[in-house]
Amino acid sequence: MIIVRAAKPSDAQTLFEWRNDAASRAASSSRIEVEWDRHRAWLTSVIADPRRFLYIAESTESSGLARVGTSRFDLDPDGLEAEVSINLNPEFRGRGLAAGVLGASLERFAPVWTGALPIRALIRPENTRSVRLFTAAGFVLSGSKGDTDIYHLG
Ligand SMILES: CC(C)(COP(=O)(O)OP(=O)(O)OC[C@H]1O[C@@H](n2cnc3c(N)ncnc32)[C@H](O)[C@@H]1OP(=O)(O)O)[C@@H](O)C(=O)NCCC(=O)NCCS
Repeated sequence: MIIVRAAKPSDAQTLFEWRNDAASRAASSSRIEVEWDRHRAWLTSVIADPRRFLYIAESTESSGLARVGTSRFDLDPDGLEAEVSINLNPEFRGRGLAAGVLGASLERFAPVWTGALPIRALIRPENTRSVRLFTAAGFVLSGSKGDTDIYHLG
């Protein structure tokens, strides 16, 4: 079972390692390696920001809770749309867990996600795992910006 909870300051080291993993950087918009101090400042600001929702997905399958991934929903400044991103713990990738993490994250976000609020995902077309993940969850290709495709749900 996947449980999604809000990220805490004590998740900093874990999120730092996942963020700087090579595949995570390849999928991200900046692709640069983030430094620890910058990461800490970023985490503090995201947790304090009422328009950003950073989650940790934990699996109850193994002995004890294992942190298997993270997701984030950022509301646009006008509050009319949200952007979702997902990053799995590198140790848990390729095991078919991503759909559960994304689904549980969308459920966790549901109280914030009014029916009028579309959710978009920005995905590089070469990121086939992510394309398959989001399209299976109902996201539909709606456009592109630079080298990134834009998908929408709702
Ligand atoms: C994208 C990501 C969340 C997918 O999670 P994952 O555990 O690797 O993927 P899963 O095992 O759950 O599989 C997801 C889909 O990709 C497919 N897939 C898995 N490995 C694959 C591979 N090597 N090549 C192509 N497709 C692959 C799976 O078959 C599945 O599709 P299906 O349900 O149609 O069969 C994960 O790889 C990740 O965190 N990547 C780095 C960050 C990232 O890319 N985030 C998304 C940014 S938009």
